[in-house]
Amino acid sequence: MKIACIGAGPAGLYFAISMKLRDSAHEIEVFERNAPGVTFGWGVVFSDQTVENLAANDPKSAKIIADEFAHWDDIEVHIHGETITSSGHGFIGIGRKRLLEILQNRARELGVGLHFNAECDPADPKWNDYDLVIASDGANSRFRDAYADAFGVDIDVRRNKFVWLGTPKVFDAFTFAFEKTEHGWIWAHAYRFAPDCSTFIVECDEETWRGFGFDTMDQAEAIAACERLFAKYLDGHKLMSNAAHLRGSAAWLNFRRIKCERWSSGNVILLGDAAHTAHFSIGSGTKLALEDAIKLAEVLNRKGLSLEAAMDEYVAERNLEVLKLQNSARNSTEWFETLDRYLNFEPLQFAYSLLTRSQRISHENLRLRDREWLEGVERWFWKRATDGRSNKTAPPMFAPFRMRALQVENRITVSPMAMYSATDGTPNDFHFVHYGERAMGGAGLVFTEMTCVSPEARISPGCTGMWNDEHVAAWKRIVDFVHSNSKAKICLQLGHSGGKGSTRVGWEGNDVPLDDGNWPVMSASDVAWSPVNQKPRPMTRADMDMVRDQFAAAVRMGLEAGFDMVELHAAHGYLLSSFLTPLQNRRTDEYGGSLENRLRYPLEVFAAMRAAWPSDRPMSVRISATDWAGENGITPDEAVEIGEAFAREGADLIDVSAGQTWADAQPTYGRMFQTPFSDKIRNEGRLATMAVGNIYEPDHANSILAAGRADLVALARPHLIDPFWTLRAAAALDYRDIHIPPQYLNGMSQLARNLKRDAEAAAALRV
Ligand SMILES: Cc1cc2nc3c(=O)[nH]c(=O)nc-3n(C[C@H](O)[C@H](O)[C@H](O)COP(=O)(O)OP(=O)(O)OC[C@H]3O[C@@H](n4cnc5c(N)ncnc54)[C@H](O)[C@@H]3O)c2cc1C
Ligand SMILES: Cc1cc2nc3c(=O)[nH]c(=O)nc-3n(C[C@H](O)[C@H](O)[C@H](O)COP(=O)(O)O)c2cc1C
Repeated sequence: MKIACIGAGPAGLYFAISMKLRDSAHEIEVFERNAPGVTFGWGVVFSDQTVENLAANDPKSAKIIADEFAHWDDIEVHIHGETITSSGHGFIGIGRKRLLEILQNRARELGVGLHFNAECDPADPKWNDYDLVIASDGANSRFRDAYADAFGVDIDVRRNKFVWLGTPKVFDAFTFAFEKTEHGWIWAHAYRFAPDCSTFIVECDEETWRGFGFDTMDQAEAIAACERLFAKYLDGHKLMSNAAHLRGSAAWLNFRRIKCERWSSGNVILLGDAAHTAHFSIGSGTKLALEDAIKLAEVLNRKGLSLEAAMDEYVAERNLEVLKLQNSARNSTEWFETLDRYLNFEPLQFAYSLLTRSQRISHENLRLRDREWLEGVERWFWKRATDGRSNKTAPPMFAPFRMRALQVENRITVSPMAMYSATDGTPNDFHFVHYGERAMGGAGLVFTEMTCVSPEARISPGCTGMWNDEHVAAWKRIVDFVHSNSKAKICLQLGHSGGKGSTRVGWEGNDVPLDDGNWPVMSASDVAWSPVNQKPRPMTRADMDMVRDQFAAAVRMGLEAGFDMVELHAAHGYLLSSFLTPLQNRRTDEYGGSLENRLRYPLEVFAAMRAAWPSDRPMSVRISATDWAGENGITPDEAVEIGEAFAREGADLIDVSAGQTWADAQPTYGRMFQTPFSDKIRNEGRLATMAVGNIYEPDHANSILAAGRADLVALARPHLIDPFWTLRAAAALDYRDIHIPPQYLNGMSQLARNLKRDAEAAAALRV
């Protein structure tokens, strides 16, 4: 094939090399606008995995690169005058200039034509003479932008400013230095990439940047200002720019997150940063570019594949990897953009939060990297959780948590789950066994399913209720069992289904109306959940009074039944949620419109419940922190305000769920996908939160808790299939100080023994 590569960055050069290695008959030319040796940036970091991939693809260049790598193990975080050092991180880095030099030499050796000082214009007809034009022209790709519609380009310009500098100061550790100034916080990411040189990226938000006047300074002034700001880390060394061709503030950039729906159009294929970028704080942009190049060369040389089929394979094989990396990169970008949230953390937790920011590194990864440091974090966590009384070194999920006079034994909760198995609202033997078993399974707190305050408040005829004496007696039997046979506390979730009521039991069709016997439903407005659901009656003031009083009466019955805690269900599109979300609430009175108005009725209900509930017992509220409908629905910022409003009325915990408020919502699922909302509400609103949503491993829970992303962690589906999830986690983590029902002691010790043996065998295999 006759191929042109636009741009001699890592992507273009390595693709040319990889193609030639597979078939030396390919005619490949690389066109670069700059002179050789002129490039932006300083060092780049790699992972071991990338090095292995390079070695498998081209052992020769991989060896030269690997021989020149700078290695370092430690990460140092400087914050509030303290330095937190953790080890075992195993980084490798190389200068960008040197990397490109090695790749240029290798490309030449393999017969690739290299043309420097060659600006390429996408409109030039000469590109039609090539079988393929590889647009490896970087994040600002002209070739991509020329056919933006064909590629489905999506660019998100992020808010922080950064500048990529170098310094002869040799940093022995990967260094994050956070400095508080009169204009706000500014920080540096610094790492060594050669025996005599380090990368030094300075980052801050736009306000701080303007406060310093970086927008009007020339490069020399900006560098001098950064030298003064970071003097104590530089030991008298200079900072240097190699973007001298950029004038003044242009050397400062805003990171541009680039995604493309399609990676090829006609004979043009996007590669590397031109197709997708990953924020510099996860150090994976060059990795993406190189691994793209390897895969593209591989599919293009597969025998018997048409170009179209090769591209399909390329996308199929790379898409997931790119998505995963861009997800991690987004988490990391957002961490630095929302730094304010974490600045009140103690330095140790701040460092933990920084290290786990992308969600790629977890609690157990940190234990493998630096056990001693991680155990220091665990001791710190336990000390805080017990007001200094405990010196325990143990996983955070087993630490107690206090809300008012209630102490829960550990941080794992059984999330509310409708069982649709009651008759006329009365819980029966199924519920007795179900809740009893989950309480014995070790969770610190068990939530009931949404228990409805009236017959009409039910989602389905199978929902549990709390509106008569029979219900009180049946719930009391369950609560008494939980209290006398476990250490778990039990929380009654109360709710009203609103416009999503009068439907079948879950497994016969979610949100599908009954075949017969439907009851009339009401909601904030007359917005039907879907075309097949009833149009609800907008609530009148009299309806509101009635329902408020039903909630308060149910709370009093909950007290009689002996519950430890009560939760108001104001999420998932049910009655109270229908007031909160602007998608369902179309009212024009004082209960609709502004957030203050939309909150009015849910807060009134909450206040009535709080008044009926003893002041020494806690209450929580479950909210949907987003409607997954962009700016048309509840935004995460509004969710913080919602949490704060309930906290002012006496909520001790915000149970942060998301979605299910609008049938056409577009949720983004994934591991721990709702936890970022809990993080936001907890750390911007300074509120206690519970995270929920696709959290299924003890490692997830420990990472969330130690990083301060939530105070409690709720698991729903994992508890459906394994009531003993918490005890099983205790066995796996070799944590002994948890209540085990005495009848089950033998089973627990056997499990712990077996898991320990398996872990030792796995560790031996790794060695
Ligand atoms: C501050 C910062 C720090 C980073 N740190 C790291 C890190 O630690 N690790 C890591 O892996 N990645 C890092 N990256 C990302 C990394 O630099 C890129 O992801 C990587 O360079 C992408 O390679 P590429 O070949 O796709 O694009 P580029 O390296 O941008 O190469 C594109 C080339 O095309 C040339 N070009 C553009 N337009 C034309 C044209 N019209 N005609 C001719 N030539 C053209 C350009 O001059 C350039 O040489 C960082 C990026 C930044 C901004
Ligand atoms: C069968 C089932 C029933 C549920 N019923 C309720 C409920 O009654 N009240 C509630 O707030 N959430 C309910 N949920 C949502 C869960 O509490 C939880 O938020 C959701 O399943 C995500 O957690 P997971 O990924 O751990 O399952 C239910 C979930 C399931 C799977």
